[in-house]
Amino acid sequence: MLTGRFHSSSTIIFVSILITFIYNIHSDAASNKPAWGRNGVVSSAHVLATEAGVNILEEGGNAIDAALATIYMLNVVEGYSAGIGGGEFWVIRIAETGEVVTIDGREEAPATAFRDMYLDSLGTPNGALSYTGILAGGVPGSVAAREYAFKKYASQSRKKIMKSAIDAAENGFMVEPGQAAYYEYLAPKLGQFEYSKKVMFKDDSTTWQAGDILVQKDLAETFKRIAKDGGDDFYHGKTAEEIVRYMKENGGIITAEDLANYQVKIREPIYGNYRGYEIYSMPPPSSGGVHLVQILNILEGWDVQQLGRNSARWFHHLAEAMEAAFADRAEYLGDPDYVIVPVTGLTSKGYAEQLRNAIPRYWSRRIDKPGNPVDFETIPPENPESGHTTHMSVIDRWGNMVALTATINTGFGSGVVLGSTGIFLNNEMDDFSIAPGTPNYFGLIGKEANAIEAGKRPLSSMCPTIITKDGKPFMSVGGSGGPKIITGTLQAIINVIDFELNVQKAVSEPRIHHQWVPDALYFDQDISPDCAIELNRMGHKIAIGAVGSGIQAVMIDQETGIMYGGADPRSGGLAKGLP
Ligand code: GLY
Repeated sequence: MLTGRFHSSSTIIFVSILITFIYNIHSDAASNKPAWGRNGVVSSAHVLATEAGVNILEEGGNAIDAALATIYMLNVVEGYSAGIGGGEFWVIRIAETGEVVTIDGREEAPATAFRDMYLDSLGTPNGALSYTGILAGGVPGSVAAREYAFKKYASQSRKKIMKSAIDAAENGFMVEPGQAAYYEYLAPKLGQFEYSKKVMFKDDSTTWQAGDILVQKDLAETFKRIAKDGGDDFYHGKTAEEIVRYMKENGGIITAEDLANYQVKIREPIYGNYRGYEIYSMPPPSSGGVHLVQILNILEGWDVQQLGRNSARWFHHLAEAMEAAFADRAEYLGDPDYVIVPVTGLTSKGYAEQLRNAIPRYWSRRIDKPGNPVDFETIPPENPESGHTTHMSVIDRWGNMVALTATINTGFGSGVVLGSTGIFLNNEMDDFSIAPGTPNYFGLIGKEANAIEAGKRPLSSMCPTIITKDGKPFMSVGGSGGPKIITGTLQAIINVIDFELNVQKAVSEPRIHHQWVPDALYFDQDISPDCAIELNRMGHKIAIGAVGSGIQAVMIDQETGIMYGGADPRSGGLAKGLP
């Protein structure tokens, strides 16, 4: 259990039961030894999912086949984090051409959604509606994203790719102690909805316990239809019909047209260069790639190694860079199909230099407003006419790479199972700014750029990232944890590139997080008290507790060709290589 600690009156006590549950779900802590292989490596947040991916690689599949097998299995054994009732972002490196592509399968606001839909008659935001229940869900995009990846890049049949996930749904998987505690914690939410009760509660009205076998027959049947008919079933077929029936009978607003009209968007990756490494990450409607590159650009001007790993001086510099980026996130980020996002300015070296020069080296300052990246927009932006989570990474023997982050937002999303489909509906509408300055579940604030509009995609922090060196594969990384995805992914990258740690240690190391609002420097418990006291003295408001992100990463040693993988012990899981 997390405990808080005072260092002074300006220290915040941070006790996060929820984060403790989420990030101690799996009991098996990884050692600091990375997994390795010569013919591929997979890392995910669940042992069975990683094994499903490695098995496909072993049977001759490529990285895309392995990613599909892994994510479908994650949806069965880790249904609280992601599922086909949600959305996802793929970043893929194609070995044959060296090209890096992204697939935006983010949920989108239904056609009848509108800006003030979560305000009551007095204009007061009702966050409960964007978080729990049928109105909290956006139109799911995961199946469409997977279908695009499958049709364009997969080498194995859907049936083969989905077989292990279908078996696990049909015959069950063993519930782990951390999972059982999480189910119980979420019971008040899940117990409100008829079909959720059917899936997550036993006959005696208790949730599934450690050692129980959790069977999901309805989900297995849905997966079988998707294995046969792909996206057609989900967006036009039997699954679509049942989703629409359930929506109509329960006051929901997602219609048959919303499902039929859903399209993935293929977007140019965010590109950055950090100390000679090429960084490719997810563009808006994720803020992940923009701010990852922005913070790396700020850090590039300092000798990070010299500042010293796990030192107060390093964390001070890092926190200030994070804070500057998150102040801009609140102001500028949203769905680029609806608002102008100054991506070029935000990711430019010049703007990063300006932000860096404003950071005091020995004390913390409070940023009272965002910066002005617009001055650094050398390419005119387009006219706006024309925006709990899991991650997996894989490299195959040919050098194809996938970084895939998927979500239904918070644990079990909206809490609603969509009738007899067995699918949990996301609560991604909460990632919109439901009113300017009103914090969402993650404490993030936003403004007009991320206001609700019909068909718009809510701003995300997901940050699937692929890194190459001289155009050759180097690393695939990403994670879970809302805004902490950005800062967790960032620190894993720094730990490899600057601190030269192996990939397992890179994801296990203590981390910090700052997101501007609230004014708190979140701190892993295992960071030394001396360091916390020193940061507190510099003016940081320390919030001690789990820095709730789970990072998965794989990489390749370009000299030996050996691939390595690391899985964050905070979220358990497994990295496994194919020798
Ligand atoms: N739902 C979390 C995110 O997309 O950032």
